[in-house]
Amino acid sequence: MGTSRAEVGGEGLVEEIVGYVYSFEGSYTPDRVEVSLLADKEVYRGEYLCIRHPTLHSKHVFFQVETAYLRRPSASYEEKLVRDGIIRHDPEKITGKAVCWQVGYDDDGTIRPLLTPIQPLTPVYRPSQQALTSFLTAEGPSISVGRMYPTDIPIKIALKPLFRQGALVVGGVGTGKSTLLLSLMINILNSLNRMARILLIDWDGEYNSEQLRKAAEQAGGYVKVTASTKLARKKINLPAQEWYDRFRKTSAKLVRTRL
Ligand SMILES: Nc1ncnc2c1ncn2[C@@H]1O[C@H](COP(=O)(O)OP(=O)(O)O)[C@@H](O)[C@H]1O
Ligand SMILES: [Mg+2]
Repeated sequence: MGTSRAEVGGEGLVEEIVGYVYSFEGSYTPDRVEVSLLADKEVYRGEYLCIRHPTLHSKHVFFQVETAYLRRPSASYEEKLVRDGIIRHDPEKITGKAVCWQVGYDDDGTIRPLLTPIQPLTPVYRPSQQALTSFLTAEGPSISVGRMYPTDIPIKIALKPLFRQGALVVGGVGTGKSTLLLSLMINILNSLNRMARILLIDWDGEYNSEQLRKAAEQAGGYVKVTASTKLARKKINLPAQEWYDRFRKTSAKLVRTRL
């Protein structure tokens, strides 16, 4: 099995080898990497792993584990044995696998992608807490939006790109989008950054939060404009076919006006 700890990198970071890039199917791309894990190693979904940059030797290219699974080649007779209740455990047949997607490498504060395929059998490391924190910590003014589950590593968003490029928050109902936005606004106001101007359009009044009000007051005040008019919604009951026809007509009209 060899040694599982190795000294890597110019920053004297001790990293742990968890496995090697190995594709069962035999293809190797830059963005998706399949890893075979050493027998005594486990990784979890969402975990960050890294490899050494193939040409820039002091840098590491980071990946995030999309799925972690076990591979156990099956024999044709085995399912019949299981059906008959004859269970033969064979740990030697099991290999831990991880499918990871590239995040990129830190090029003096900018995250850049590695564009060339990752070589087969490239060693894959678990970065030290320090290496991961420094990779995830943005340069310049930033706000904290939480910790990376299940670790204690803070997740920070740099204010400059947030203000200049924006952010899109996507997720299912009840997954915490509104709460994240509330926490973003409060943190931006508390950071007292002079670039910050917030226009909040709150359809349902869900941001009627004392904490947000206080943060806005302390950051220089706010104006609240309420509109009492409610859009009248006509309720029409239609048979399914008619509803479908109207829906198609309306959406076709919308598409035409957009173009
Ligand atoms: N980070 C979090 N930890 C625990 N509970 C949370 C977290 N973020 C949101 N919630 C809770 O989950 C529920 C749904 O959150 P909400 O922000 O309204 O979701 P969404 O806007 O995506 O529908 C709320 O009760 C909220 O308090
Ligand atoms: Mg919401």
